Amino acid sequence: MTNPVYLALDFPRLETAEAVARKVRSHVGGLKLGMEFFYAHGHHGVHEIAKIGLPLFLDLKLHDIPNTVAGAMQAVHVLEPAIVTVHAAGGRAMMEDAKAAAGEHCKVVAVTVLTSLDERDMSATGVSGSPHDQALRLADLAHRAGLDGIVCSGHEVGAVHARWKDGFFVVPGLRPANGITADQKRTVTPRAARDAGASVLVVGRPISRAEDPVAAARAIEATL
Ligand code: C5P
Repeated sequence: MTNPVYLALDFPRLETAEAVARKVRSHVGGLKLGMEFFYAHGHHGVHEIAKIGLPLFLDLKLHDIPNTVAGAMQAVHVLEPAIVTVHAAGGRAMMEDAKAAAGEHCKVVAVTVLTSLDERDMSATGVSGSPHDQALRLADLAHRAGLDGIVCSGHEVGAVHARWKDGFFVVPGLRPANGITADQKRTVTPRAARDAGASVLVVGRPISRAEDPVAAARAIEATL
């Protein structure tokens, strides 16, 4: 079994991200680079991290008109990412064009409802109903648009997996048993998320900010 853990490299400095990734490279399956990293370090930064030799997840959360998102996908194509994120709220045509512009081996997955939004926040943007129902609605839309899967919490992955059997599900917000949760509120363990149908487990601080990142990554690997 390939290791489903993608380490979130949320560091402002390229050198720090690189050093942490090199340390744990044998104990994670891939590396996730987000907006902060990409806006700061661009293609050069991604090329440097790619030298470590693990699959890359570009968590860019693209959301614009279809033509612009397709252009952005084409622009990152040369980086050969394994996974790229877009916002499902961009609509079906945007997701279809994003998928069409992505490389053959690139999974395009949709962010549904940001976990930072509650029902009141959604209502203020004109969306009625619960975040859970909205997430399932957008998951169905992503599926119809031909995307590979969605990003969801460990609490939802079971329900989404039941409706989308061959979907590719990326689950962040994971904490090892007895781990410190920091600002993540609704956490599950990596093993529980995996058992509920997660394809990729995104883990950041429990590894990257651990006193001993290698031991932390090994401990998570051992539970899977
Ligand atoms: O450090 P931690 O394990 O909380 O990092 C989680 C990673 O997953 C971060 O890169 C964060 O941006 C991302 N993420 C998240 N919750 C979401 C979507 C993405 O924590 N709903």
